[in-house]
Amino acid sequence: MATTLAKETTASVEYATRLEHVSKSFATPGGQQLVLDDITIDVAPGEFVTLLGASGCGKSTLLNLVAGLDRPTAGSITTDGRPALMFQEHALFPWLTAGKNIELALKLRGVPKEERRGRTEELLELVRLQGSYGKRVHELSGGMRQRVAMARALAQESRILLMDEPFAALDAITRDVLHDELTRIWGETGLSVLFVTHNVREAVRLAQRVVLLSSRPGRIAREWTVDIPQPRRIEDAPVAELSLEITDVLRGEIRRHGQQ
Ligand SMILES: Nc1ncnc2c1ncn2[C@@H]1O[C@H](COP(=O)(O)OP(=O)(O)OP(=O)(O)O)[C@@H](O)[C@H]1O
Ligand SMILES: [Mg+2]
Repeated sequence: MATTLAKETTASVEYATRLEHVSKSFATPGGQQLVLDDITIDVAPGEFVTLLGASGCGKSTLLNLVAGLDRPTAGSITTDGRPALMFQEHALFPWLTAGKNIELALKLRGVPKEERRGRTEELLELVRLQGSYGKRVHELSGGMRQRVAMARALAQESRILLMDEPFAALDAITRDVLHDELTRIWGETGLSVLFVTHNVREAVRLAQRVVLLSSRPGRIAREWTVDIPQPRRIEDAPVAELSLEITDVLRGEIRRHGQQ
């Protein structure tokens, strides 16, 4: 893994993350289980890539490897600095307010105390939660919690944001709004995003590139470049059309591996 020292070499970095021939096996009672097989993929600076695949195909495993939470069995992974992470569960500290959850991330990054409050207010504004600094986690809706989680991830000032089905637990309307917000924030910050989902429409709605993983073991099955201009809506005809094409390929993958 590259280190946070990568900050000094930004000008020469051609990718936010690069995986080369990455494989991952887990030890199971039945022997070694190969979960990811020979994955080679990179994400360019500022690029938005969605990783799509059936349940259990290894998406979260791959994201955990990029995050440095686990190590590949074979192959190499480099990242431009330490990635920020966002999961389906917001993982906010319930005993802290929305603002304090964000400030903690700033504190861990070494931001001086006197700057933290102002920066937190800016981040709350970025996710359109101005005025919510003092709210407790239980006072926030699911969508608001994911906004705070997004602000906390952004507080890390990483150049790559890894998102593992961050909106999967939300209702369709809230998810739609957060898609718009994420697209806007991505446009404003120039972040690279690697976004995992099993929702084809969501993948097409958000990404510049969709990478489809096959199942058992996860291999790169196909890639699509998405040329549809942003902002998109999930019900736009070109989004629906490409989603249909991808769904057919995904269904073929699932049939081949006997999953549902
Ligand atoms: N730590 C582990 N030890 C053993 N097996 C594991 C471990 N982590 C994941 N696996 C196995 O690896 C496979 C892929 O899991 P993973 O969570 O990456 O799938 P996923 O694509 O994220 O699925 P979902 O869409 O349901 O979230 C599964 O068969 C899972 O049981
Ligand atoms: Mg997963």
